[in-house]
This record gives sequence, C-alpha cells and structure tokens, in this order.
Amino acid sequence: MNESVFQGRSLLAIKDFTQDEVNYLIDFSAHLKDLKKRGVPHHYLEGKNIALLFEKTSTRTRAAFTTAAIDLGAHPEYLGKNDIQLGKKESVEDTAKVLGSMFDGIEFRGFSQKVVEELAEFSGVPVWNGLTDEWHPTQMIADFLTVKENFGHLEGITLVYVGDGRNNMANSLLVAGAILGVNIRICTPKSLYTDPEIVALAESFAKESGSKLVISDDVAATVVGADVLYTDVWVSMGEEDKFAERVELLQPYQINMDMVKQTGNENMIVLHCLPAFHDATTEYGAAISEKFGISEMEITDEVFRSSYARQFQQAENRMHSIKAIMAATLGNLFIPKA
Ligand code: CP
Ligand code: NVA
Repeated sequence: MNESVFQGRSLLAIKDFTQDEVNYLIDFSAHLKDLKKRGVPHHYLEGKNIALLFEKTSTRTRAAFTTAAIDLGAHPEYLGKNDIQLGKKESVEDTAKVLGSMFDGIEFRGFSQKVVEELAEFSGVPVWNGLTDEWHPTQMIADFLTVKENFGHLEGITLVYVGDGRNNMANSLLVAGAILGVNIRICTPKSLYTDPEIVALAESFAKESGSKLVISDDVAATVVGADVLYTDVWVSMGEEDKFAERVELLQPYQINMDMVKQTGNENMIVLHCLPAFHDATTEYGAAISEKFGISEMEITDEVFRSSYARQFQQAENRMHSIKAIMAATLGNLFIPKA
C-alpha cells in the first residue's frame, strides 16, 4: 500500500478507514514500538506543533499523545477545557480556524462527535479523535496491536466484549473487528444493546471481511470459545448519574474467574481500555463500595492481576499506535512521488 493515502487525513472514526489501512496502522505501530525499544530516533514530525484539546479527563490518551509527539520531534500543547474559550465564548468553527493557523495537527477528546468533525472541517489540518461519546478510534489501533502481539494474527480471533453495549468502546470494537475480520460478540443486557445503526454498519463490513458478529445477553453462551474477553467501565464519562442502575444491571457481566473458566480457552487473554474499577482504592471505588456494598465492578481484582490480563501492555501500546497515526497522517515519511 502507498503510505501517501494517509497524508493530511483525520482520524475521526475507524469506519472511515479500509481493512488495509487499519492493518497498516497496526503494523506501523509495531514498527515504531521496535524503533523506540532499540533507541532508534524517528523524528517524522520535526518542527510541528500539536494541539491537545481535552473536554474530558484522561491519563493514557493525554500521556500517549504527549510522549508520542515529543518522540516524533513535535511540540505538544495541552489545551484543557477550562483554559480556552471553546464552547463558552467561541464557536467550534472559529476555534478550529484559529488553531489550524497555528498548529499542524489537533487531538480532541470530548462529548460530541459533531465537534471533532467540525474541527476537522474548519481547521484545515489533521484532527485525531481522542474519544467522544460515540467512538474511540485511536484505542482500536492499540487494542488490535495487542491482540496481534499475543496471537500472531487477527483473522479468526473471537473477541467478546462484556458490559455496557452501547458506549464508545462497544461501538468501536464492533466496527473495528468487523473491518479486520475479527469475530466480535457484544454481551450486554437487552436494555443496553448496541445502537442498531452501528450494528448495521458493522454488518456491512463483516460481509466483506467474513467476521461473525453477535449481540446477546446470554453470558454463558456468548463467552464460550473467546480468545479475548474485553470489558470497560459500567458508567462512562458524562453519565455519572447512572451508577445505581448499571451496578444493578451489569453485575452478571463482570469479568471474574468463573467467566474466564466459562470461555473454555486456557490461552485466552483479558483486555480493558482502562481506567478500571477492580478494587475500592480510588475515590469512586470507595464511594461505590460504601453505597452498593461491592468493591469490584466490571472486573475482579483477581482477574485484573492474573496471568490472563494484558491491560498494561495494551495501555503502553496507546503510545506506539498514536505515534503511528500522527506520523502516517502528518509526518514527513519521505514517500517517493508515484
Ligand atoms: N483508555 C483511555 O482512553 O484512557 P484515558 O481515559 O486515561 O485516556
Ligand atoms: N467508555 C469509557 C472509555 C474510557 C477510556 C468512557 O467513555 O468513559
């Protein structure tokens, strides 16, 4: 594939990229990871300025964009929601025009997918979606890199996501897996079934790739044969008023050792995009423990610390994959003219 297909493009949702392109980004991430481990410089963004816009909080995405930009020779600048005028005194369009005249690339994490799309439309520079309510595309490159590192291939792998079936992670895994030929099962209560429009979109990709997709509330039937068990928080950023109903609804969907055994696959791995509620040591964890009498939510501490768990490998891969995304879309890759 000619790498120039990426130049100048934004990454707003994984659905906008072909199977070859997604595979390229995964393999390029692995290559950059290898360069980093061997201490080989890779300054593909020398002299560029990168804006990091955050309406929601972040550890991994912020840290990954920051270190990736610096490793690529660029200057990252964090613009938090309380630091700039966006939304309060200035429209997305005007902000995009200003930032696009000063920065060479923009990362945005926030609520609305429409905002990240408008930033891309009006800034004139590549925009990377660092998570919205609907999608989390940079996470997909890291996640499937982690799957590939563990199994050596993607096709034919069965990934079972258990938990909230209509959040940004469920949407993204369903569509990314369908593009890549990975079988995706979303195991969630009926009231949290994935948006039918997103399922239809994923089905259209699955027809091409051969991926098998399942949405089901039957835990035992759905987790059997899983190569990957994946979960995410029961309450996403922005919906903190939903703890009581989700705790009630999602307890049968917790990843615990019984569920791991139910897969029947001794070689399976467990992934989590993080942060995770696996104990009560955090402020939220302590509040949940006091209110609902549970010290673990979507994953037990036992599984989180078990030999199946790969969530920290996955977290590290955020940096390598974000580096690949920025370098491919904005980097001086010295691609010869065709
Ligand atoms: N997985 C992820 O996006 O983590 P952060 O919210 O810490 O960025
Ligand atoms: N669904 C989670 C993902 C965090 C990385 C959220 O949006 O809060």
